[in-house]
Amino acid sequence: MLFSPSTSLVLLAGSFASLAAAQNDGDFSPPSYPSPWMRGGNGWQDAYAKAQEFVGGLTLLEKINLTTGVGWEGEACVGNTGSIPRLNFAGICLQDSPLGIRFADLNSAFPSGMNAAATWTTRLFKSRGNAMGMEHRGKGIDVQLGPVAGPLGRVPAGGRNWEGFSPDPVLTGVAMAETIKGIQDAGVVACAKHYIMNEQEHNREPNGTVKFAYSANLDDKTMHELYLWPFADSVRAGVGSIMCSYNQINNSYGSQNSYTLNYLLKNELDFQGFVVSDWWAQHTGVASALAGLDMTMAGDQNLASGNTWWGSNLTAAVLNGTMPQWRLDDMATRIMSAYFKVGRDTARVPTNFNSWSSETFGYIHPQANEGYQQINYHVNVQADHARLCREIAGASTVLLKNVNNALPLKKPKSIAVIGEDAHDNPGGPNSCGDRGCNRGTLAMGWGSGTANFPYLIAPNTALKEQAARDGTKYSNVSDNYDFSAVTAALQGTDAAIVFANADSGEAYISVDGNTGDRNNLTLWGNGDALIAHVASQHPNTIVVLHTVGAVIVEEFKNHPNITALLWAGLPGQESGNAITDILYGKRNPSAKNVFTWGKKREDWGVDVVYTPTADPPQLNFKEGNFIDYRYFDANGIEPSYEFGFGLSYTTFEYSDLKIQKMSPGPYEPTKGMTKAAPTFGTIDFNESNAEFPPGFHAVNKYIYPYLSDDVPRDQVQNWPEGSLEGTPQPKLPAGGSAGGNRQLYDVMYVVTATVKNTGGVKGVEIPQLYLSLGAPTDPRIVLRGFDDLILDPNESATFEVKLTRRDLSNWDTASQNWVVSNYPKTVYVGASSRDLPLSGTLA
Ligand code: NOJ
Repeated sequence: MLFSPSTSLVLLAGSFASLAAAQNDGDFSPPSYPSPWMRGGNGWQDAYAKAQEFVGGLTLLEKINLTTGVGWEGEACVGNTGSIPRLNFAGICLQDSPLGIRFADLNSAFPSGMNAAATWTTRLFKSRGNAMGMEHRGKGIDVQLGPVAGPLGRVPAGGRNWEGFSPDPVLTGVAMAETIKGIQDAGVVACAKHYIMNEQEHNREPNGTVKFAYSANLDDKTMHELYLWPFADSVRAGVGSIMCSYNQINNSYGSQNSYTLNYLLKNELDFQGFVVSDWWAQHTGVASALAGLDMTMAGDQNLASGNTWWGSNLTAAVLNGTMPQWRLDDMATRIMSAYFKVGRDTARVPTNFNSWSSETFGYIHPQANEGYQQINYHVNVQADHARLCREIAGASTVLLKNVNNALPLKKPKSIAVIGEDAHDNPGGPNSCGDRGCNRGTLAMGWGSGTANFPYLIAPNTALKEQAARDGTKYSNVSDNYDFSAVTAALQGTDAAIVFANADSGEAYISVDGNTGDRNNLTLWGNGDALIAHVASQHPNTIVVLHTVGAVIVEEFKNHPNITALLWAGLPGQESGNAITDILYGKRNPSAKNVFTWGKKREDWGVDVVYTPTADPPQLNFKEGNFIDYRYFDANGIEPSYEFGFGLSYTTFEYSDLKIQKMSPGPYEPTKGMTKAAPTFGTIDFNESNAEFPPGFHAVNKYIYPYLSDDVPRDQVQNWPEGSLEGTPQPKLPAGGSAGGNRQLYDVMYVVTATVKNTGGVKGVEIPQLYLSLGAPTDPRIVLRGFDDLILDPNESATFEVKLTRRDLSNWDTASQNWVVSNYPKTVYVGASSRDLPLSGTLA
């Protein structure tokens, strides 16, 4: 049974607790109405005041224009809202991606989100966000479509995991918050996506196989403790927009799910910005607006279909009273508040690039081939971001194995560099659109989460330069199948460095039969055989992996001839320079795993559902909170390499755990009622004023707010109960402030420990704090804090984590609130999720 807002049973708000408890098998997503209106709290006051004034001065059609995209390829950006010509206000430009500007030139191609996470360094999360934000700003982009917390990374083969950060919600939450602050400090609105449960690519949208997108089915506790967590952090960081996902959640579409949008996001998390649909993820008109959607993208119902769910239809819905004015005003005010909050009113420059053509001259309305003029101004926005790209790429390279002092290399007499993955793509780094092929070295996955490379330094290029500087004899082979050439190149060398990769991306492109999600967890292009061949020939084989996530390394990791193993992820444009820094010890490795490396595919306990057995396909998240390391721990599965693990060229020692109890006072559930829904300005209900102006030239397939037919009146309306109500509404006990009840962020304990560099070289250690919440139903441990400590030999520093009330709590379905259970709580501190020398009990 499919539930949409218009067909759902209507239940009273008071019965949520029992509903939420029941919604664990996917057949029900409880309705929640009305859609909460903005209140302008938590740092949004000024922006809200400006937005109110702005929206109050708009006509109905102008308000509608802010909410609706102009259609695919209607304007320069991947998404563009309508404009307000009367005020000289250009439509809002939304542009991919989470790792740099998609479809542009003279921009940077940053390391992936997953790589950023692997640095475990908040400073770098924020600098990366800020540098990306500055580039978007320079090109005249209003909204950067990133960062990503969905997928979180439930299944290792999930195609878009690398766009996000880590399957751990705390690491992802910190990375989301810092990235958002960085982007928004640059004067650009960040967009946290894809909300929510967008955990695989197969059947994420209706397609030739299924009529309906898959439904991710999960319970209320898992929702709060795992998947919603990083979105709560995003809201707390002040994110301006959130993109709702293609998939369904408990059998209600992400972009019209009143429970996830109205109840969780806008009420409980007190989100003040706007919700934008993923491109064509909207499936209804008024119903989606009442369920909490504020902006539709790309605006047309389907790619270049020329029709729309909103635009003229929303105009008609307001005129005939189906859509209350307060809801439209709230949509427009949320959009403009985000705009003012990040300072777009002063930061904005005209959009000076065009997604659909790299030529200097072309069409401003590419879909219609209309308006020939200059469309690309080739503005160079790279600044000195190459340095940051190189730093993050190096700081995200995990040293997994290093024996016999294989690394760092010290002016070796001769080396051989083996593997296609070390070499340039012969067609150039951008030769496949949206990186939809796997040729040459892999530095980003494929899909909309990409950017054009300004250049891509392949490992072969940088290593060869290093060899030239050192007087090292250098040989290289790029053909993964030519084993005799490989054998010949290895002769007489001190070290063999072999590169291999595994790629994935977004579902609209299939690469080598992988429709977004990976078909397996093995290396691509004969990589496993290549590594085995080199290792069989060379006693000093160093393996470097560029992969989108875990691959099965168990076969070769224990090979005695493999002396070193490194994971470099998707390092972006500075790939070769960064890996050279690491291999030669110019940078001491400090990165740690952001996911678990299982020994075999089954070890994760969950997988992509490739072949649906129902329509909509039912993806039952029965494992609950137990994904990645939590699943391995709970089931006694030994991984190849654990979450949080990574070596350095030096060593560290942990000591002196101290726990200090704070007294923030008891937790009070939020009470009271909201104000009534405000409206801004008056609506002109004269239909003839909403028609196309006389003589108006309509661009082909462009979406307009003007009425196209007579407004239907007096039809039977059957909207969910309460959905049109603008009266004061009850606040939720766990809500009331950005990211939930503000007392959730009270500090309950301060935990400190001493970390000492006990080796011979300077290094960075990433100490980690894990917590056992204590109940038999809880994971063995969960990550709660981390830091990056830069230490000279013999130097010590203090690692400190502030544990908040949320950190110590479980979600209680019955009271719809966070509760600290009576089970004993233990903290663990150490170098990885399985190397935790210090522990203590919380009193
Ligand atoms: C679909 C993708 O899921 C989303 O991440 C992206 O921002 C939009 N397309 C626009 O390209």
